[in-house]
Amino acid sequence: MRIILIGFMGSGKTHWGTQVAHRLQLPFFDLDEEVVKAENGTSVTDIFATKGEEYFRQKEKDIMEQLVDANESMVLSCGGGTPCFFNNIEYMKKVGIVVWLNTHVDVILQRLLKEKAKRPLIKDIDDEGLRTFIIRKLNERRMYYEQADVILDKEDAISMNDFIQTVLHA
Ligand code: S3P
Repeated sequence: MRIILIGFMGSGKTHWGTQVAHRLQLPFFDLDEEVVKAENGTSVTDIFATKGEEYFRQKEKDIMEQLVDANESMVLSCGGGTPCFFNNIEYMKKVGIVVWLNTHVDVILQRLLKEKAKRPLIKDIDDEGLRTFIIRKLNERRMYYEQADVILDKEDAISMNDFIQTVLHA
């Protein structure tokens, strides 16, 4: 079984991914981290700055496919943009159960205000503009996120057992 977590930056993918993987005794991968490893430790921000977004998007797709090929069972936490490029969302649904953490904008905002620097898409946006950016980007991406097999609307208010039950019964 492969559980693939998607959702906006700050939606809780890595947090839930590690917990669910631990509970289900599955290997856990964070796609951003795997891309960084494959780029010899260059951070996502530096990959964007030196090689550009297009390079990053190709790399995240390639690494995702390599992880899928190598792991029949796993929990994979994707980057916020992963399902929105190439045919990634169709691919993800073919190889796993795709879960969208549809976290509320205000929860996302509070989380991202604390950690803008490591995210190239928002690092130069001032705090006042961040909410508008999140709403706009989320609206652009919704059509991809909505294709998930499971949608969790109250990410910040559900229990681990609810999460696991919902995903396992998808
Ligand atoms: C991105 C999200 C980031 C990372 C990159 C681009 C996006 O991942 O892949 O900065 O396009 O939303 P997280 O969602 O884990 O922050």
